[in-house]
Amino acid sequence: MEVLSEVSRTLGEYLLLPNETTEECTPDRVDLTTALVRHRVGEASPLRVATPLLSAIMEAVSGPRLAIALAQCGGLSFVHQNQPVEAQVEDVATVKRHKAGFRPATVSLKPTATLDEVAELVRESGAEQVPVTEDGTVGGRLVGLIGPGDFHRDRHGGGAPVSARMRGVGDLLTAPVGVSLGDANALLWDRRADVLAVVDGAGVLDSLVLRRDYDTHKRFRHESVDGLKRLRVAAGVNTRDHRDRVPALVEAGADLLCIDSSDGYSVYQARVLEDVRSAHGEGVYVGAGNVVDGRAFEYLADAGAAFVKVGIGGGSICTTRAQKGIGRGQASALLDVAQARDAYARRTGEYVPLVCDGGVLEDSHMAIALAMGADAIMLGRYFARTSESPTRRVRVNGQDYKEYWGEGSMRARNTARYEHHEHTQAVAFAEGVDGLVPYAGSLYDAVAMTTSKIRATMVSCGSTSLEAFRESARMVVVSEQSFRQTGAEVLVRERADTIG
Ligand code: IMP
Repeated sequence: MEVLSEVSRTLGEYLLLPNETTEECTPDRVDLTTALVRHRVGEASPLRVATPLLSAIMEAVSGPRLAIALAQCGGLSFVHQNQPVEAQVEDVATVKRHKAGFRPATVSLKPTATLDEVAELVRESGAEQVPVTEDGTVGGRLVGLIGPGDFHRDRHGGGAPVSARMRGVGDLLTAPVGVSLGDANALLWDRRADVLAVVDGAGVLDSLVLRRDYDTHKRFRHESVDGLKRLRVAAGVNTRDHRDRVPALVEAGADLLCIDSSDGYSVYQARVLEDVRSAHGEGVYVGAGNVVDGRAFEYLADAGAAFVKVGIGGGSICTTRAQKGIGRGQASALLDVAQARDAYARRTGEYVPLVCDGGVLEDSHMAIALAMGADAIMLGRYFARTSESPTRRVRVNGQDYKEYWGEGSMRARNTARYEHHEHTQAVAFAEGVDGLVPYAGSLYDAVAMTTSKIRATMVSCGSTSLEAFRESARMVVVSEQSFRQTGAEVLVRERADTIG
Protein backbone atom coordinates (compact mmCIF):
# COMPACT_ATOMS: atom_id res chain seq x y z
CA MET A 1 0.00 0.00 0.00
CA GLU A 2 1.18 3.48 -0.79
CA VAL A 3 -0.33 6.85 0.07
CA LEU A 4 1.05 9.74 -1.96
CA SER A 5 2.07 12.63 0.25
CA GLU A 6 0.62 15.37 -1.94
CA VAL A 7 -2.96 16.61 -1.83
CA SER A 8 -5.05 15.98 -4.96
CA ARG A 9 -5.67 19.41 -6.52
CA THR A 10 -7.92 20.68 -9.25
CA LEU A 11 -7.28 23.33 -11.93
CA GLY A 12 -9.23 26.09 -10.18
CA GLU A 13 -6.81 25.96 -7.24
CA TYR A 14 -3.99 27.50 -9.28
CA LEU A 15 -3.18 30.98 -10.55
CA LEU A 16 -0.54 32.03 -13.05
CA LEU A 17 2.00 34.74 -12.22
CA PRO A 18 2.56 37.24 -15.06
CA ASN A 19 5.94 37.27 -16.81
CA GLU A 20 7.38 40.24 -18.66
CA THR A 21 5.23 41.24 -21.64
CA THR A 22 7.34 42.70 -24.45
CA GLU A 23 6.15 44.80 -27.40
CA GLU A 24 6.40 41.74 -29.66
CA CYS A 25 4.06 39.80 -27.41
CA THR A 26 0.60 40.75 -28.65
CA PRO A 27 -2.63 38.71 -28.92
CA ASP A 28 -2.51 38.67 -32.74
CA ARG A 29 0.98 37.16 -32.62
CA VAL A 30 -0.05 34.34 -30.27
CA ASP A 31 0.01 31.03 -32.14
CA LEU A 32 -2.18 28.38 -30.52
CA THR A 33 -1.11 25.65 -32.97
CA THR A 34 -0.63 22.36 -31.18
CA ALA A 35 0.58 18.83 -31.83
CA LEU A 36 -1.91 15.96 -31.50
CA VAL A 37 0.26 13.02 -32.58
CA ARG A 38 3.58 11.76 -31.21
CA HIS A 39 6.71 12.78 -33.06
CA ARG A 40 10.48 13.05 -32.73
CA VAL A 41 11.51 15.92 -30.46
CA GLY A 42 12.36 18.96 -32.59
CA GLU A 43 10.33 17.72 -35.58
CA ALA A 44 6.74 18.68 -36.52
CA SER A 45 3.90 16.42 -35.47
CA PRO A 46 2.14 14.73 -38.44
CA LEU A 47 -1.17 16.11 -37.13
CA ARG A 48 -1.42 19.63 -35.80
CA VAL A 49 -4.42 21.89 -35.26
CA ALA A 50 -4.56 25.66 -34.88
CA THR A 51 -6.98 25.67 -31.93
CA PRO A 52 -6.19 23.35 -29.01
CA LEU A 53 -9.83 22.48 -28.30
CA LEU A 54 -11.29 18.99 -28.86
CA SER A 55 -14.88 17.87 -28.37
CA ALA A 56 -15.53 14.89 -26.11
CA ILE A 57 -16.20 11.37 -27.39
CA MET A 58 -19.85 11.61 -26.35
CA GLU A 59 -23.20 11.14 -28.05
CA ALA A 60 -24.53 14.36 -26.49
CA VAL A 61 -21.58 16.36 -27.81
CA SER A 62 -19.85 15.26 -31.00
CA GLY A 63 -22.38 14.96 -33.81
CA PRO A 64 -21.41 15.81 -37.41
CA ARG A 65 -22.80 19.35 -37.21
CA LEU A 66 -20.65 20.19 -34.21
CA ALA A 67 -17.67 18.39 -35.78
CA ILE A 68 -17.96 20.60 -38.87
CA ALA A 69 -18.25 23.80 -36.83
CA LEU A 70 -15.32 22.94 -34.56
CA ALA A 71 -13.05 21.94 -37.46
CA GLN A 72 -13.91 25.26 -39.12
CA CYS A 73 -12.72 26.99 -35.94
CA GLY A 74 -9.44 25.05 -36.04
CA GLY A 75 -10.27 22.40 -33.42
CA LEU A 76 -11.21 18.74 -33.75
CA SER A 77 -14.19 16.56 -32.76
CA PHE A 78 -14.19 12.92 -31.77
CA VAL A 79 -17.41 11.26 -32.97
CA HIS A 80 -18.61 8.76 -30.40
CA GLN A 81 -18.28 4.99 -30.58
CA ASN A 82 -21.40 3.96 -28.63
CA GLN A 83 -23.22 3.31 -31.90
CA PRO A 84 -23.03 0.73 -34.68
CA VAL A 85 -19.92 0.94 -36.86
CA GLU A 86 -22.00 1.97 -39.92
CA ALA A 87 -23.60 4.88 -38.04
CA GLN A 88 -20.25 6.18 -36.80
CA VAL A 89 -18.77 5.80 -40.29
CA GLU A 90 -21.67 7.87 -41.64
CA ASP A 91 -20.89 10.62 -39.08
CA VAL A 92 -17.28 10.70 -40.24
CA ALA A 93 -18.32 10.64 -43.90
CA THR A 94 -20.74 13.55 -43.37
CA VAL A 95 -17.90 15.72 -42.07
CA LYS A 96 -15.56 14.59 -44.84
CA ARG A 97 -18.19 15.35 -47.49
CA HIS A 98 -18.81 18.83 -46.13
CA LYS A 99 -18.22 21.47 -48.73
CA ALA A 100 -17.71 25.02 -47.50
CA GLY A 101 -20.81 27.09 -48.05
CA PHE A 102 -23.12 24.10 -48.67
CA ARG A 103 -25.32 23.18 -45.71
CA PRO A 104 -26.45 19.55 -45.89
CA ALA A 105 -30.09 18.89 -44.93
CA THR A 106 -30.34 17.43 -41.42
CA VAL A 107 -34.02 18.01 -40.60
CA SER A 108 -37.28 18.02 -42.55
CA LEU A 109 -41.06 18.14 -42.12
CA LYS A 110 -44.14 16.97 -44.02
CA PRO A 111 -46.39 19.52 -45.78
CA THR A 112 -49.13 18.51 -43.30
CA ALA A 113 -47.03 19.37 -40.23
CA THR A 114 -48.16 22.48 -38.33
CA LEU A 115 -46.51 25.91 -38.07
CA ASP A 116 -46.06 25.25 -34.35
CA GLU A 117 -44.02 22.18 -35.27
CA VAL A 118 -41.83 24.34 -37.52
CA ALA A 119 -41.21 26.78 -34.64
CA GLU A 120 -40.42 23.88 -32.31
CA LEU A 121 -38.01 22.26 -34.80
CA VAL A 122 -36.24 25.55 -35.48
CA ARG A 123 -35.80 26.15 -31.74
CA GLU A 124 -34.62 22.61 -31.00
CA SER A 125 -32.30 22.14 -33.96
CA GLY A 126 -31.17 25.68 -34.71
CA ALA A 127 -31.98 25.13 -38.43
CA GLU A 128 -32.74 28.41 -40.20
CA GLN A 129 -34.61 26.90 -43.11
CA VAL A 130 -36.61 23.69 -42.77
CA PRO A 131 -36.90 21.63 -45.95
CA VAL A 132 -40.42 20.31 -46.56
CA THR A 133 -40.39 16.92 -48.23
CA GLU A 134 -43.19 14.77 -49.66
CA ASP A 135 -42.89 12.08 -47.00
CA GLY A 136 -41.30 14.24 -44.27
CA THR A 137 -37.95 12.42 -44.38
CA VAL A 138 -34.58 14.09 -45.01
CA GLY A 139 -34.09 11.90 -48.10
CA GLY A 140 -37.61 12.57 -49.47
CA ARG A 141 -38.49 14.64 -52.56
CA LEU A 142 -38.33 18.38 -51.84
CA VAL A 143 -41.65 20.22 -52.09
CA GLY A 144 -40.74 23.50 -50.38
CA LEU A 145 -38.87 25.40 -47.70
CA ILE A 146 -40.14 27.14 -44.58
CA GLY A 147 -38.36 29.26 -41.99
CA PRO A 148 -39.35 31.43 -39.04
CA GLY A 149 -39.59 34.45 -41.35
CA ASP A 150 -42.38 32.85 -43.41
CA PHE A 151 -45.13 33.08 -40.83
CA HIS A 152 -46.35 34.85 -37.73
CA ARG A 153 -48.05 32.62 -35.21
CA ASP A 154 -50.77 35.12 -34.22
CA ARG A 155 -51.53 36.05 -37.81
CA HIS A 156 -51.41 32.61 -39.45
CA GLY A 157 -52.24 30.29 -36.54
CA GLY A 158 -49.89 27.75 -34.96
CA GLY A 159 -52.13 24.87 -36.06
CA ALA A 160 -52.13 25.84 -39.76
CA PRO A 161 -50.37 23.40 -42.11
CA VAL A 162 -46.86 24.05 -43.36
CA SER A 163 -48.17 23.85 -46.95
CA ALA A 164 -50.12 27.10 -46.35
CA ARG A 165 -46.98 29.18 -45.70
CA MET A 166 -44.03 27.31 -47.23
CA ARG A 167 -42.26 28.57 -50.33
CA GLY A 168 -43.07 25.88 -52.89
CA VAL A 169 -40.22 24.29 -54.82
CA GLY A 170 -41.45 25.99 -58.04
CA ASP A 171 -40.79 29.42 -56.48
CA LEU A 172 -37.37 28.53 -55.09
CA LEU A 173 -34.02 29.24 -56.60
CA THR A 174 -32.51 25.82 -57.32
CA ALA A 175 -29.33 24.44 -58.87
CA PRO A 176 -28.21 20.90 -59.71
CA VAL A 177 -25.79 18.90 -57.58
CA GLY A 178 -22.23 19.76 -58.60
CA VAL A 179 -22.82 23.52 -58.84
CA SER A 180 -19.73 25.38 -57.61
CA LEU A 181 -19.95 27.67 -54.59
CA GLY A 182 -18.94 30.61 -56.78
CA ASP A 183 -21.80 29.94 -59.23
CA ALA A 184 -24.28 29.35 -56.40
CA ASN A 185 -23.38 32.67 -54.79
CA ALA A 186 -23.55 34.49 -58.12
CA LEU A 187 -27.09 33.12 -58.61
CA LEU A 188 -28.11 34.26 -55.12
CA TRP A 189 -26.93 37.80 -55.80
CA ASP A 190 -28.28 37.99 -59.36
CA ARG A 191 -31.72 36.74 -58.37
CA ARG A 192 -31.78 38.70 -55.08
CA ALA A 193 -32.57 35.45 -53.27
CA ASP A 194 -31.65 34.52 -49.69
CA VAL A 195 -31.41 30.79 -50.22
CA LEU A 196 -30.55 28.39 -53.03
CA ALA A 197 -31.58 24.73 -52.92
CA VAL A 198 -29.18 22.23 -54.50
CA VAL A 199 -31.29 19.28 -55.71
CA ASP A 200 -30.44 16.04 -57.48
CA GLY A 201 -32.09 14.59 -60.58
CA ALA A 202 -34.79 12.88 -58.48
CA GLY A 203 -35.76 16.18 -56.82
CA VAL A 204 -34.12 15.27 -53.50
CA LEU A 205 -32.47 18.12 -51.58
CA ASP A 206 -28.68 17.79 -51.36
CA SER A 207 -27.86 21.02 -49.52
CA LEU A 208 -28.74 24.67 -49.10
CA VAL A 209 -26.59 27.69 -49.87
CA LEU A 210 -27.52 30.70 -47.76
CA ARG A 211 -26.68 34.24 -48.76
CA ARG A 212 -25.78 35.05 -45.15
CA ASP A 213 -23.00 32.42 -45.30
CA TYR A 214 -21.35 34.31 -48.16
CA ASP A 215 -18.59 35.81 -46.05
CA THR A 216 -18.53 33.17 -43.39
CA HIS A 217 -15.84 30.91 -44.79
CA LYS A 218 -13.45 33.86 -44.91
CA ARG A 219 -13.69 33.86 -41.10
CA PHE A 220 -12.20 30.38 -40.94
CA ARG A 221 -8.57 31.20 -41.45
CA HIS A 222 -7.48 28.33 -39.21
CA GLU A 223 -9.70 25.49 -40.44
CA SER A 224 -8.52 21.98 -39.58
CA VAL A 225 -8.23 20.37 -43.01
CA ASP A 226 -6.50 17.28 -44.40
CA GLY A 227 -4.24 17.05 -47.47
CA LEU A 228 -7.32 17.01 -49.72
CA LYS A 229 -8.71 20.16 -48.08
CA ARG A 230 -11.50 18.17 -46.42
CA LEU A 231 -12.36 19.08 -42.83
CA ARG A 232 -10.64 16.91 -40.28
CA VAL A 233 -12.58 14.67 -37.92
CA ALA A 234 -11.53 12.16 -35.28
CA ALA A 235 -13.36 9.17 -33.81
CA GLY A 236 -13.57 7.12 -30.64
CA VAL A 237 -12.98 3.35 -30.73
CA ASN A 238 -13.21 0.71 -28.02
CA THR A 239 -11.34 -2.36 -26.85
CA ARG A 240 -14.09 -4.78 -27.93
CA ASP A 241 -14.83 -4.35 -31.63
CA HIS A 242 -11.73 -2.46 -32.80
CA ARG A 243 -10.93 -5.10 -35.41
CA ASP A 244 -14.13 -4.11 -37.29
CA ARG A 245 -14.41 -0.47 -36.26
CA VAL A 246 -10.87 0.77 -36.89
CA PRO A 247 -10.60 -0.31 -40.58
CA ALA A 248 -14.08 1.08 -41.32
CA LEU A 249 -13.24 4.46 -39.77
CA VAL A 250 -9.89 4.61 -41.52
CA GLU A 251 -11.60 3.83 -44.82
CA ALA A 252 -14.13 6.61 -44.16
CA GLY A 253 -11.25 9.08 -43.70
CA ALA A 254 -11.08 9.56 -39.91
CA ASP A 255 -7.92 11.57 -39.23
CA LEU A 256 -7.28 10.42 -35.69
CA LEU A 257 -8.67 7.73 -33.38
CA CYS A 258 -8.81 7.42 -29.61
CA ILE A 259 -9.58 4.46 -27.40
CA ASP A 260 -12.53 5.61 -25.34
CA SER A 261 -12.37 4.34 -21.78
CA SER A 262 -12.78 5.73 -18.30
CA ASP A 263 -9.61 3.92 -17.20
CA GLY A 264 -6.86 3.48 -19.77
CA TYR A 265 -4.19 1.76 -17.68
CA SER A 266 -5.02 -1.69 -18.97
CA VAL A 267 -3.65 -4.53 -21.02
CA TYR A 268 -6.73 -4.20 -23.25
CA GLN A 269 -5.60 -0.78 -24.46
CA ALA A 270 -2.03 -1.98 -25.01
CA ARG A 271 -3.42 -4.82 -27.15
CA VAL A 272 -5.56 -2.48 -29.28
CA LEU A 273 -2.52 -0.28 -29.95
CA GLU A 274 -0.47 -3.33 -30.92
CA ASP A 275 -3.26 -4.78 -33.11
CA VAL A 276 -3.79 -1.52 -34.98
CA ARG A 277 -0.08 -1.10 -35.56
CA SER A 278 0.32 -4.62 -36.95
CA ALA A 279 -2.79 -4.29 -39.15
CA HIS A 280 -2.28 -0.72 -40.43
CA GLY A 281 1.35 0.25 -39.79
CA GLU A 282 2.40 3.62 -38.38
CA GLY A 283 0.05 5.78 -40.46
CA VAL A 284 -3.07 5.20 -38.34
CA TYR A 285 -2.88 7.31 -35.20
CA VAL A 286 -4.57 6.01 -32.04
CA GLY A 287 -4.60 7.91 -28.76
CA ALA A 288 -5.23 6.16 -25.45
CA GLY A 289 -6.40 6.90 -21.92
CA ASN A 290 -7.60 8.08 -19.55
CA VAL A 291 -4.80 8.12 -17.01
CA VAL A 292 -3.94 10.20 -13.94
CA ASP A 293 -0.31 9.39 -13.21
CA GLY A 294 3.11 9.13 -14.78
CA ARG A 295 3.29 5.35 -14.49
CA ALA A 296 0.14 4.82 -16.53
CA PHE A 297 1.35 7.41 -19.07
CA GLU A 298 4.59 5.53 -19.61
CA TYR A 299 2.73 2.25 -20.03
CA LEU A 300 0.58 3.68 -22.86
CA ALA A 301 3.47 5.63 -24.41
CA ASP A 302 5.54 2.41 -24.52
CA ALA A 303 2.56 0.64 -26.07
CA GLY A 304 2.63 3.20 -28.92
CA ALA A 305 -0.19 5.64 -28.05
CA ALA A 306 -0.32 8.60 -30.45
CA PHE A 307 -1.36 10.83 -27.54
CA VAL A 308 -2.47 10.22 -23.98
CA LYS A 309 -5.65 11.55 -22.45
CA VAL A 310 -5.51 12.67 -18.81
CA GLY A 311 -8.40 12.80 -16.33
CA ILE A 312 -10.50 10.43 -14.26
CA GLY A 313 -13.51 11.47 -12.28
CA GLY A 314 -13.45 15.20 -13.03
CA GLY A 315 -16.14 15.31 -15.75
CA SER A 316 -19.11 17.58 -15.05
CA ILE A 317 -21.53 14.63 -15.51
CA CYS A 318 -19.23 12.16 -13.79
CA THR A 319 -19.94 10.19 -10.63
CA THR A 320 -16.96 7.80 -10.91
CA ARG A 321 -15.19 9.17 -7.84
CA ALA A 322 -18.23 8.66 -5.66
CA GLN A 323 -19.13 5.29 -7.18
CA LYS A 324 -15.71 3.64 -7.39
CA GLY A 325 -13.41 5.84 -5.30
CA ILE A 326 -11.11 6.27 -8.32
CA GLY A 327 -9.66 9.47 -9.73
CA ARG A 328 -7.40 12.39 -9.05
CA GLY A 329 -7.69 16.17 -9.09
CA GLN A 330 -7.09 17.30 -12.66
CA ALA A 331 -4.18 19.60 -11.81
CA SER A 332 -2.30 16.97 -9.80
CA ALA A 333 -2.91 14.42 -12.57
CA LEU A 334 -1.69 16.77 -15.31
CA LEU A 335 1.42 17.89 -13.44
CA ASP A 336 2.43 14.30 -12.71
CA VAL A 337 1.76 13.07 -16.26
CA ALA A 338 3.44 16.09 -17.89
CA GLN A 339 6.56 15.45 -15.84
CA ALA A 340 6.57 11.82 -17.02
CA ARG A 341 5.96 12.94 -20.61
CA ASP A 342 8.95 15.32 -20.51
CA ALA A 343 11.17 12.64 -18.95
CA TYR A 344 9.98 10.20 -21.65
CA ALA A 345 10.86 12.73 -24.37
CA ARG A 346 14.37 13.20 -22.94
CA ARG A 347 14.90 9.46 -22.64
CA THR A 348 13.46 8.27 -25.97
CA GLY A 349 13.48 11.38 -28.17
CA GLU A 350 9.70 10.93 -28.69
CA TYR A 351 7.22 13.66 -27.70
CA VAL A 352 3.79 12.27 -26.81
CA PRO A 353 1.08 14.98 -26.64
CA LEU A 354 -1.25 15.15 -23.64
CA VAL A 355 -4.97 15.91 -23.77
CA CYS A 356 -6.57 17.32 -20.62
CA ASP A 357 -10.04 15.76 -20.43
CA GLY A 358 -12.92 16.47 -18.07
CA GLY A 359 -13.91 19.01 -15.45
CA VAL A 360 -12.72 22.11 -17.27
CA LEU A 361 -15.35 24.58 -16.12
CA GLU A 362 -13.91 27.98 -16.95
CA ASP A 363 -11.88 29.42 -19.82
CA SER A 364 -9.17 30.28 -17.29
CA HIS A 365 -8.90 26.56 -16.41
CA MET A 366 -7.97 25.88 -20.03
CA ALA A 367 -5.08 28.32 -19.82
CA ILE A 368 -3.93 26.74 -16.55
CA ALA A 369 -4.10 23.25 -18.11
CA LEU A 370 -2.08 24.39 -21.14
CA ALA A 371 0.48 25.97 -18.81
CA MET A 372 0.69 22.71 -16.86
CA GLY A 373 1.68 20.79 -19.98
CA ALA A 374 -1.53 19.83 -21.79
CA ASP A 375 -1.24 20.08 -25.58
CA ALA A 376 -5.01 20.25 -26.03
CA ILE A 377 -8.19 20.40 -23.96
CA MET A 378 -11.09 17.97 -24.45
CA LEU A 379 -14.48 19.39 -23.48
CA GLY A 380 -17.92 17.88 -23.03
CA ARG A 381 -20.19 20.28 -21.15
CA TYR A 382 -18.62 23.32 -22.84
CA PHE A 383 -19.65 22.13 -26.32
CA ALA A 384 -22.91 20.46 -25.23
CA ARG A 385 -24.22 23.97 -24.37
CA THR A 386 -23.92 25.25 -27.95
CA SER A 387 -26.50 25.38 -30.77
CA GLU A 388 -24.36 22.97 -32.80
CA SER A 389 -24.44 20.08 -30.29
CA PRO A 390 -26.74 17.25 -31.34
CA THR A 391 -29.12 17.36 -28.36
CA ARG A 392 -32.49 19.03 -27.91
CA ARG A 393 -32.79 22.59 -26.68
CA VAL A 394 -35.42 22.79 -23.96
CA ARG A 395 -36.98 25.61 -21.99
CA VAL A 396 -37.43 25.34 -18.22
CA ASN A 397 -38.88 28.24 -16.21
CA GLY A 398 -38.17 30.69 -19.02
CA GLN A 399 -34.53 29.63 -19.29
CA ASP A 400 -33.05 27.75 -22.28
CA TYR A 401 -31.03 24.58 -21.71
CA LYS A 402 -29.46 21.81 -23.80
CA GLU A 403 -29.62 18.17 -22.82
CA TYR A 404 -26.32 16.67 -21.70
CA TRP A 405 -25.72 13.18 -20.36
CA GLY A 406 -22.65 11.15 -19.44
CA GLU A 407 -21.51 8.12 -21.38
CA GLY A 408 -21.67 6.20 -18.12
CA SER A 409 -25.27 7.25 -17.45
CA MET A 410 -28.14 4.82 -17.75
CA ARG A 411 -29.28 6.81 -20.78
CA ALA A 412 -26.07 6.18 -22.76
CA ARG A 413 -25.39 2.64 -21.47
CA ASN A 414 -21.96 2.79 -23.04
CA THR A 415 -20.76 -0.60 -21.81
CA ALA A 416 -17.69 -0.63 -24.07
CA ARG A 417 -16.34 2.50 -22.31
CA TYR A 418 -16.74 1.07 -18.85
CA GLU A 419 -16.19 -2.68 -19.33
CA HIS A 420 -13.46 -4.28 -21.38
CA HIS A 421 -14.94 -7.77 -21.35
CA GLU A 422 -17.11 -8.63 -24.28
CA HIS A 423 -19.48 -10.70 -22.17
CA THR A 424 -20.57 -7.67 -20.13
CA GLN A 425 -23.65 -6.39 -21.91
CA ALA A 426 -25.25 -4.26 -19.21
CA VAL A 427 -24.11 -1.32 -17.09
CA ALA A 428 -24.34 -2.55 -13.48
CA PHE A 429 -24.32 0.94 -11.98
CA ALA A 430 -24.21 4.46 -13.40
CA GLU A 431 -20.98 6.47 -13.47
CA GLY A 432 -22.62 9.52 -14.96
CA VAL A 433 -25.76 11.62 -14.84
CA ASP A 434 -28.35 12.73 -17.38
CA GLY A 435 -29.14 16.43 -17.15
CA LEU A 436 -29.42 19.89 -18.67
CA VAL A 437 -26.81 22.61 -19.18
CA PRO A 438 -27.56 26.32 -19.75
CA TYR A 439 -27.79 27.09 -23.46
CA ALA A 440 -24.80 29.15 -24.60
CA GLY A 441 -25.52 30.11 -28.24
CA SER A 442 -23.22 29.53 -31.18
CA LEU A 443 -20.06 27.45 -30.98
CA TYR A 444 -18.30 29.93 -33.26
CA ASP A 445 -18.82 32.76 -30.76
CA ALA A 446 -17.92 30.58 -27.76
CA VAL A 447 -14.65 29.40 -29.30
CA ALA A 448 -13.74 32.94 -30.44
CA MET A 449 -14.27 34.25 -26.90
CA THR A 450 -12.38 31.39 -25.25
CA THR A 451 -9.38 31.60 -27.55
CA SER A 452 -9.17 35.35 -27.13
CA LYS A 453 -9.05 34.85 -23.35
CA ILE A 454 -6.31 32.20 -23.69
CA ARG A 455 -4.35 34.58 -25.92
CA ALA A 456 -4.73 37.34 -23.33
CA THR A 457 -3.44 35.05 -20.56
CA MET A 458 -0.47 34.03 -22.68
CA VAL A 459 0.34 37.66 -23.41
CA SER A 460 0.34 38.40 -19.67
CA CYS A 461 2.69 35.48 -19.23
CA GLY A 462 4.96 36.78 -22.00
CA SER A 463 4.46 33.88 -24.45
CA THR A 464 3.36 33.69 -28.07
CA SER A 465 3.51 29.88 -28.43
CA LEU A 466 2.12 27.06 -26.30
CA GLU A 467 5.58 25.58 -25.92
CA ALA A 468 7.02 28.82 -24.55
CA PHE A 469 3.94 29.25 -22.36
CA ARG A 470 4.38 25.90 -20.58
CA GLU A 471 8.16 26.30 -20.33
CA SER A 472 8.00 29.71 -18.67
CA ALA A 473 4.78 29.37 -16.65
CA ARG A 474 4.97 30.11 -12.93
CA MET A 475 2.00 29.15 -10.79
CA VAL A 476 0.83 29.32 -7.22
CA VAL A 477 -1.80 27.43 -5.26
CA VAL A 478 -4.55 29.69 -3.97
CA SER A 479 -5.55 29.62 -0.32
CA GLU A 480 -9.10 29.15 0.97
CA GLN A 481 -8.97 32.78 2.05
CA SER A 482 -8.17 34.06 -1.46
CA PHE A 483 -10.95 31.92 -2.87
CA ARG A 484 -13.41 33.67 -0.61
CA GLN A 485 -12.03 37.05 -1.63
CA THR A 486 -12.45 36.23 -5.35
CA GLY A 487 -16.07 35.42 -4.65
CA ALA A 488 -16.83 38.69 -2.81
CA GLU A 489 -20.45 39.48 -3.43
CA VAL A 490 -21.18 42.39 -5.75
CA LEU A 491 -24.56 42.84 -7.35
CA VAL A 492 -23.61 43.09 -11.01
CA ARG A 493 -25.67 45.42 -13.17
CA GLU A 494 -26.32 44.27 -16.72
CA ARG A 495 -27.18 47.81 -17.82
CA ALA A 496 -26.64 50.96 -15.85
CA ASP A 497 -30.35 51.80 -15.91
CA THR A 498 -31.76 48.44 -14.75
CA ILE A 499 -31.03 48.74 -11.04
CA GLY A 500 -30.96 51.68 -8.66
P1 IMP B 1 -16.81 17.74 -19.06
O1 IMP B 1 -16.07 18.52 -20.09
O2 IMP B 1 -16.47 18.16 -17.67
O3 IMP B 1 -18.27 17.69 -19.31
O4 IMP B 1 -16.24 16.24 -19.16
C1 IMP B 1 -16.28 15.47 -20.33
C2 IMP B 1 -15.50 14.19 -20.11
O5 IMP B 1 -16.09 13.40 -19.07
C3 IMP B 1 -15.49 13.24 -21.30
O6 IMP B 1 -14.53 13.59 -22.27
C4 IMP B 1 -15.18 11.91 -20.66
O7 IMP B 1 -13.81 11.69 -20.44
C5 IMP B 1 -15.85 12.01 -19.30
N1 IMP B 1 -17.16 11.35 -19.27
C6 IMP B 1 -18.10 11.27 -20.22
N2 IMP B 1 -19.20 10.64 -19.78
C7 IMP B 1 -18.94 10.30 -18.51
C8 IMP B 1 -19.69 9.62 -17.49
O8 IMP B 1 -20.84 9.23 -17.66
N3 IMP B 1 -19.05 9.43 -16.32
C9 IMP B 1 -17.77 9.85 -16.10
N4 IMP B 1 -17.05 10.53 -16.98
C10 IMP B 1 -17.62 10.75 -18.18
